[in-house]
Amino acid sequence: MWPQVEPHDPRLPERVRVVEVGPRDGLQNVARTVPTDVKVEFVDLLTAAGLPVVEVTSFVSPRAIPQLGDAAEVFARIARDPTTRYPVLVPNLKGMERALAAGARDIAVFTAASEGFAQHNIRMTISESLRAFVPVVDLARREGVGVRGYVSTAFGCPYDGVVGPAAVLDVTKSLFDLGVEEVSIGDTIGVATPGSVRAVLGALLETIPAEQLAVHFHDTRGTALANVLVALELGIATVDSAAGGLGGCPYAPGASGNLATEDLLYMLHGMSIETGVDLAAVTAATSYLTTTLALTPASRYVQAAMATGNPHL
Ligand code: COA
Ligand code: ZN
Repeated sequence: MWPQVEPHDPRLPERVRVVEVGPRDGLQNVARTVPTDVKVEFVDLLTAAGLPVVEVTSFVSPRAIPQLGDAAEVFARIARDPTTRYPVLVPNLKGMERALAAGARDIAVFTAASEGFAQHNIRMTISESLRAFVPVVDLARREGVGVRGYVSTAFGCPYDGVVGPAAVLDVTKSLFDLGVEEVSIGDTIGVATPGSVRAVLGALLETIPAEQLAVHFHDTRGTALANVLVALELGIATVDSAAGGLGGCPYAPGASGNLATEDLLYMLHGMSIETGVDLAAVTAATSYLTTTLALTPASRYVQAAMATGNPHL
């Protein structure tokens, strides 16, 4: 019955591409061990919900992220739908080789807008990370594999504090120079507000087309949806989110979940912005995962659905 659907506001995109990051960004943070079977089923349920992009896992060092040590097995076992893309995170050439061997056709490289976070997360300076990505992106392009770049801590860093638009622009441009096709601008610790989003994205949009940018908000302080709305007003139509609002970051103390996919869909559909995604089916995927693992979903939409006992709320 809800949301009550309002007419589309012509100043906003007609369609938004939702990039589901729960199986990677979410599950890398779940403290308890998640069985491989459960990860595979979760990805398959997200595929069934019609998500155009499901980020499956990371081919990072299993010592850094033990939760995703079964990346190759998960990737081999998911049911891949030809209309869905299944990117995986890759930090270096070793990860790229593992990803290719597993059959990945889309990858994402990741760095940060602040040195403190880059050092803790990938043990490299920003410029070292960019150098490490050169052979990764070259190999991807030779193999016809799609490449996304992530810029973490674009609004604030747990180690360095405030991060200005100039630092974000610098690293984003460098990623495009390497040959990535899209860059996702991340508020890793959930400190952005509509004003800082406008400042950072506005600076990027002076030289970078909106079609090449995505936004990745964490809802740590409750500002994620407000921030999405600003990005939409600026013409950005690719938004990252995680089913159930799972996630955080192992290298960002206190970072809570990603913007929940259900909460994002609820807002977009209520504004007559198309996604092609079935909200009830995403809720079912979250419900499967959180019931199986005895987790409480952070998604407000899912909480409301559970409270009323109506998954189709
Ligand atoms: N896949 C598997 N193993 C890898 C790997 C990869 N992509 N990259 C490195 N390793 C292994 C090396 O083989 C080496 O193992 P050994 O000691 O048994 O020989 C060990 O990890 C250390 O390698 P090194 O190149 O020195 O890496 P590092 O210790 O400097 O770590 C990263 C650098 C980037 C590999 C590591 O910090 C990492 O994977 N970070 C990911 C963090 C992340 O995913 N954060 C969340 C996303 S925002
Ligand atoms: Zn995230």
